[in-house]
Amino acid sequence: METIKIESLAYKGYGIGRVNSKVVFVGYACPEDTLKIEIYDEHKNYAFGRIIEIISPSQKRIAPVCEHFGICGGCNYLHIPYEEELYQKSEIFKTGFNKVFKDIKYFNFFGFTNDLEKRKPDYLKYRQKIGLKVSPPLIGFYKKRSNNVVDVGYCHLAKEGVNELLKNTRNILLKNGGGGSNLLNEISFITLTDTGLKNITFGLKNHILSRIHDYDPIFKDIINGTKADNIFVEFREGGGDGKGKGGKGKNIVKYSRDKDGKNTYDNYFMLKDKKFAYDLPSFIQINKGQNENMISIITAYLENLTEKKGIYFNNALDLFCGYGNITIFLTPYAQVITGVEENGFSIKLGEKNLKLNAVKNINFMMSNVEDFLEKAKKGGINYDLIVLDPPRTGIKGLVPKVAALNPSFVIYISCDFMTLLRDLKIFAEMGYLIEQINLIDMFPRTYHMEQAVFLSKTG
Ligand SMILES: C[S@@+](CC[C@H](N)C(=O)[O-])C[C@H]1O[C@@H](n2cnc3c(N)ncnc32)[C@H](O)[C@@H]1O
Repeated sequence: METIKIESLAYKGYGIGRVNSKVVFVGYACPEDTLKIEIYDEHKNYAFGRIIEIISPSQKRIAPVCEHFGICGGCNYLHIPYEEELYQKSEIFKTGFNKVFKDIKYFNFFGFTNDLEKRKPDYLKYRQKIGLKVSPPLIGFYKKRSNNVVDVGYCHLAKEGVNELLKNTRNILLKNGGGGSNLLNEISFITLTDTGLKNITFGLKNHILSRIHDYDPIFKDIINGTKADNIFVEFREGGGDGKGKGGKGKNIVKYSRDKDGKNTYDNYFMLKDKKFAYDLPSFIQINKGQNENMISIITAYLENLTEKKGIYFNNALDLFCGYGNITIFLTPYAQVITGVEENGFSIKLGEKNLKLNAVKNINFMMSNVEDFLEKAKKGGINYDLIVLDPPRTGIKGLVPKVAALNPSFVIYISCDFMTLLRDLKIFAEMGYLIEQINLIDMFPRTYHMEQAVFLSKTG
């Protein structure tokens, strides 16, 4: 056992302190706590410890709103005030950034605390989508660092509409005698979304294939009992290895509330002044308010380029575009925009969204970004603006391929600060200047953060 005083927070939600001058990372710690800890993972220059006893709690500590906090792997910061979380996240970003870019001083930096009052109301109940794991009879989230499921009946990060879906879906699935519990045995995951449209996706294990329609009555029960607009049932035709490989590919059966079962594309939700159809399985930003904030940051930057510098783009590219969440807002700033995305469902939705908004200057292409960049280079096509919004893994190895298309401006949206810094370093080495960085708190109460970085080509 060791005693430690926590100095600050580090990425991934750890508190940092020192034991005999070695840095120790401690989960669920708060700056200024004095703790008795047990070291469970020791390295040459650092170690990981877990709290055994809070000897003297920080004045900053608050009571977590959730009974599962510390067990469920979802939240990291329910024990500290939101203002402190934002301050610490900004510091974490600045420290990490300064380590990689020692000499870069001059760019506009907008941390989290700039418009705190505006964002404060949605630091709980903000998720419009949650993904649940199933291990019958448990329905919930993975425990921290494990594949065991914590049974969760209410998630404090989810919108009330999502929690309603959760409660009603659980009740029906756990009902004995009505077939619910039999279906539960076939389910490996459940995704719930409420964007205004309420959708439930059930991921089924492979062996249900021949019997998919045996469960029609219970899916209808779920539609009626949850008031969901749609249920999507995902499974792999032709078997497979149970991990999504080896079968003939993903199949989706859809059950809808509407009579003919196919008019959901006529429904849409609003994002700022635009209409978006949404269906599954397609990526969606989980925090609507902060997604709108991110879009406003991007459009304000482009507006400024147009108004102050008279810049209007000829040929813009939106890589990893999903269903056009950002792409559609680029419309006024470029003559032609190409959106690239590998998920065919998202592309189909994107095309719907173009019609819903009467947009004429966007082409969506279903392709992986790697192949697209290769072909564009071979075809000698240049893009003067490139927007990137990759998954957490970032665009390792692709930065030179993006730069090879000669964009004078690059907007990099990232949800992982480590891969972002790795990729930015290469952009900087290739002559791109970091003009502006905005931190966007897309995932309050967790260690995750979103960043928008604006780069321009020097020389
Ligand atoms: C972080 S999401 C961003 C989507 C969109 N920009 C938005 O704001 O909703 C990343 C997207 O990249 C897609 N994706 C992941 N890897 C890809 C790849 N190698 N090539 C093309 N698209 C990819 C995913 O399907 C997902 O839609």
